[in-house]
Amino acid sequence: MRDLSKTNIFLIGFMGAGKSSVAARLSEELRTPCLELDEIISEQVSMSVSKIFEHCGEEYFRDLESDAIADAAKLEGCIVSCGGGAVLRRKNVEMMKASGIIVLLTAHPKTILDRIKDNEDRPLLSRSNKSVEYISNMMDIRREQYEAAANVIIDTECKTIPEVCDELLRKVADA
Ligand code: S3P
Repeated sequence: MRDLSKTNIFLIGFMGAGKSSVAARLSEELRTPCLELDEIISEQVSMSVSKIFEHCGEEYFRDLESDAIADAAKLEGCIVSCGGGAVLRRKNVEMMKASGIIVLLTAHPKTILDRIKDNEDRPLLSRSNKSVEYISNMMDIRREQYEAAANVIIDTECKTIPEVCDELLRKVADA
């Protein structure tokens, strides 16, 4: 059985998969700190994620994201909610793997669209990109990287946040 007070749990998955909600609930349940990487990055540079993409470009955001993952990987016993692109760099995945367990949350493109449609701080899913086709295509491109990184995979479809957390804790204990 894994000692969760020493292991970090990294939540990965597509935008709108439920990482932030699950992380917040888990952190409450386990009484462990929760790190919301996009929030940490935004606070560091005093800009929203959209503004970082707009003014400094995606590569700059990805560099900040890698730095935030490196910092999180030095900690113990934290729930870390990663941005959806955290798996795009292999070194990010290596750092997460070395410091804890990686849990992938999944959902159908239609469900993702329903969850993100009113949010304006996702530069990769803005305006015309807010469609099932676009999400589905982007998900297909990333799927292999998500699945290769994950120690545990949880389908969030038709499940409540507490149900996802229960399943996660069971699977993490066995992983
Ligand atoms: C991104 C996901 C976002 C955020 C940025 C890029 C991505 O985080 O990091 O907009 O590449 O999938 P969420 O998954 O929390 O929306």
